[in-house]
Amino acid sequence: MRSRAIFVLNLLLMAVLTAGCASTPPTESVNLDAERPTVFIAGSSRGLGLEFARQYAALGWNVIATARNPQGSDGLVDLAAAYPETVVLDTLDVTMQADVDRVAQRFAGQPIDVLIHSAGIWGDLDAQTFGQLEFDEYELIYEVNALGPLRVTEALIENVKASEQKKIITLGGGMGTRKTIEGAPGGHYWYRMARAANLASMAIVQRENKKRGVIIGIISPGKVDTQMLRDSGWPPHFKSMSPEESAGLVIEQIAALTPELGGELINFDGKVIGW
Ligand SMILES: NC(=O)c1ccc[n+]([C@@H]2O[C@H](COP(=O)([O-])OP(=O)(O)OC[C@H]3O[C@@H](n4cnc5c(N)ncnc54)[C@H](OP(=O)(O)O)[C@@H]3O)[C@@H](O)[C@H]2O)c1
Repeated sequence: MRSRAIFVLNLLLMAVLTAGCASTPPTESVNLDAERPTVFIAGSSRGLGLEFARQYAALGWNVIATARNPQGSDGLVDLAAAYPETVVLDTLDVTMQADVDRVAQRFAGQPIDVLIHSAGIWGDLDAQTFGQLEFDEYELIYEVNALGPLRVTEALIENVKASEQKKIITLGGGMGTRKTIEGAPGGHYWYRMARAANLASMAIVQRENKKRGVIIGIISPGKVDTQMLRDSGWPPHFKSMSPEESAGLVIEQIAALTPELGGELINFDGKVIGW
């Protein structure tokens, strides 16, 4: 009797201990409504990514919302609960090839009309200031902001090609253009260099996939009040947009994208900015 009580206690203890652990990422395939367009978002735990997920869900799209820890984002968890048929959450760190491969396998055959790269980091400001540059810091910023979009794009390109709209969106880029570099104060080396690499890689993807109807939209969301803007040192009293407003405007630009605009850097208001 006593040993049975100890066994039950142990079971209870194990249940309590494992309840707080992150669950294993899902591997089962999903069946999304083929009549609806589908958006896939990398980096949707907060900020613009979360707002894209919310607004596309409200528009009636299938939403594949990914994040490093989706269950840790109340916004994503609430959204999935509100749209159980159309919102799917998944785990994706854009610097991890194994994550990218698993996600590509899980969604194999699923057309993706709009693939949005919203994962990004600014990085430590001091470490990217001339005179005290910390070269190790560059690696992570480059991995997330430059290699991340390319890694995810390569893995999901067949999904995009299989869709009706065939659009791939990367956010920002202005910080990596010659025009901004010449027109703005210095600093921010690692972020700007990674943005320049992101522009170049997306332009190459555009060139290679144009004939298959793929459109790369490089869209500047403006100054948006998110964690990233705060990390960039943007003074809080300077003007910025809310993520809701910016995401809404960017979604309008995504809808208006034509093949001629592929590879161009477009402002949230539709103005084409040379790079
Ligand atoms: N805010 C602006 O003014 C502005 C202007 C121009 C361009 N952008 C671009 O817009 C995009 C979204 O930024 P935001 O303003 O919404 O900033 P944010 O609120 O800081 O969001 C950044 C997102 O990236 C995710 N992330 C970071 N590292 C990741 C990784 N390795 N793998 C997957 N996800 C990762 C974060 O998720 P975790 O919760 O896992 O950290 C978070 O969801 C960025 O690419 C940024 O460069 C923003």
